[in-house]
Amino acid sequence: MAAMTSRVSKRVGAISESATMAVDAKAKALKAAGKPVIGFGAGEPDFPTPDYIVEAAAEACRDPRWHRYTPAGGLPALREAVAEKTRRDSGLVVAPGQVLVTNGGKQAVYEGFAALLDPGDDVLVVAPYWTTYPEAIRLAGGTPVVVETTEDTGYLASVAALEAARTDRTKVLLFVSPSNPTGAVYSPEQVAEIGRWAVEHDLWVVTDEIYEHLVYGGAAFSSMPVAVPELADRCIVVNGVAKTYAMTGWRVGWLIGPTDVVKAATNLQSHATSNVANVSQVAALAAVRGDLSAVAAMREVYDRRRQTIVRMLRDIPGVECPEPLGAFYAYPSVKGVLGKELRGRRPGTSAELCELVLEEAEVAMVPGEAFGTQGYVRMSYALGDDDLVEGVTRLHKLLAEAH
Ligand SMILES: Cc1ncc(COP(=O)(O)O)c(C=O)c1O
Repeated sequence: MAAMTSRVSKRVGAISESATMAVDAKAKALKAAGKPVIGFGAGEPDFPTPDYIVEAAAEACRDPRWHRYTPAGGLPALREAVAEKTRRDSGLVVAPGQVLVTNGGKQAVYEGFAALLDPGDDVLVVAPYWTTYPEAIRLAGGTPVVVETTEDTGYLASVAALEAARTDRTKVLLFVSPSNPTGAVYSPEQVAEIGRWAVEHDLWVVTDEIYEHLVYGGAAFSSMPVAVPELADRCIVVNGVAKTYAMTGWRVGWLIGPTDVVKAATNLQSHATSNVANVSQVAALAAVRGDLSAVAAMREVYDRRRQTIVRMLRDIPGVECPEPLGAFYAYPSVKGVLGKELRGRRPGTSAELCELVLEEAEVAMVPGEAFGTQGYVRMSYALGDDDLVEGVTRLHKLLAEAH
C-alpha cells in the first residue's frame, strides 16, 4: 500500500492565514454589505500616495523601457537612490550593491531569513511581534524563540531578557523599532546597548526600519548598525516605501546587508519573482529621491490621532493603554474586560472579544493572539479623525456594559 501523503506539504501547510489580513477582509466584506463598520485593523496609511510619485509612475507606464525585464536586484538608479536615502535618513553608509529591491518589505523579511538560516538556527523574536516574522523564520528552516514583553515595560525587551533566551543555537536577533503592533520605540541608548550585546555574542541582527519616520513626542529613531558600527557586517536592514509615502499597494521595499548576503538573496529573488514591477520601482525612485515633506505632514496628522485614541482608550473601564511612541498603532490591554458578561456572552480571550466587538459594535480590531500575546488588541489609528472618534466611542459604550 502506498504511504499516506498529504495533499499540501507540511512546510506550507503549517503556515497560518495572516490574521491582520483576515480581520481586514472581514471588515471590508461587512462594509461592502452595507454595514457601517469602522476598521482599526489595517496596517496601512489612509492617505493617497503623493501626486508627484503617482505622476512619475504614470509617465513610466508610457515608456517602453519599463515594459521589459530589468535586473532582478532592482533598477540601478533605485539601488543608488536607496543607498543615498539611507545615508540621509539613518546615517548608515552603504554601496548601491548592498541594496536589493524587493516586492515590499515583506519579501525582504522572507529573503533575509532565507539567506541567513539553516535548520537548527534560532532567531530571537520579541513579542508582541508582527505576525509575518515567525512564519518567515520557520519557512526558512529556522526556529523563532519568543521573548515576551508586557505593557509594564512599554513592550520593550531588556538585554537581560534577551540574554536569558540566548543559547548556542541563537544565530539572529530580530529587532523592530518603531514596532508593529505596539508602537514601542527603543531609545538610542537602548538600541546601542542591545547592538553591543549582539556583537559580543556574534549574533546577526535583522532590523526592520520600515517605520523610521513615524516617531512622536520625545522619541527618536536610531539605526542599530549606525549606533554600533561593528555590527554592520552581520546586519540586514529591512525597509520600504509603504508606510513612509502611503504606498502599501505599490509593493516596493528593500533589504540592505553585507555583499555576500545580498548576492545570495538576489539569486533567490532572480528565481522567485525577478524584478519588482518597473512602474512601481520608478514610483519608489521619485519617493526616495524627493524630500520628506509629505511624510512630515502625515506624521502630524497621525500624532493628533494618536493622542486622541490614547486619551479615549484610557477612559474605558478595563482597558489599559501604554503610550505608543511610533508607527500608527495602539496596543491596549483588554484583560480587565475578559471573563465578564457582555451582551449575554462571556469573552475569555482577546480573539473572542474582537469577534463580539465586530458583531455588536461594528468595530474591527486585531486580537493580540495574532501577535503572540493574549489579552490585547491592536488598533491602527491610520483612519479618518471622525471615524476614529466614532469607533472608540462605540467600543467604550459596549465595553462599559461588561459586568
Ligand atoms: C514591521 C513591518 N515590517 C514590514 C512590513 C511590510 O510592509 P510592505 O511589505 O508593505 O512593504 C510591515 C507591514 O505591515 C510591517 O508592519
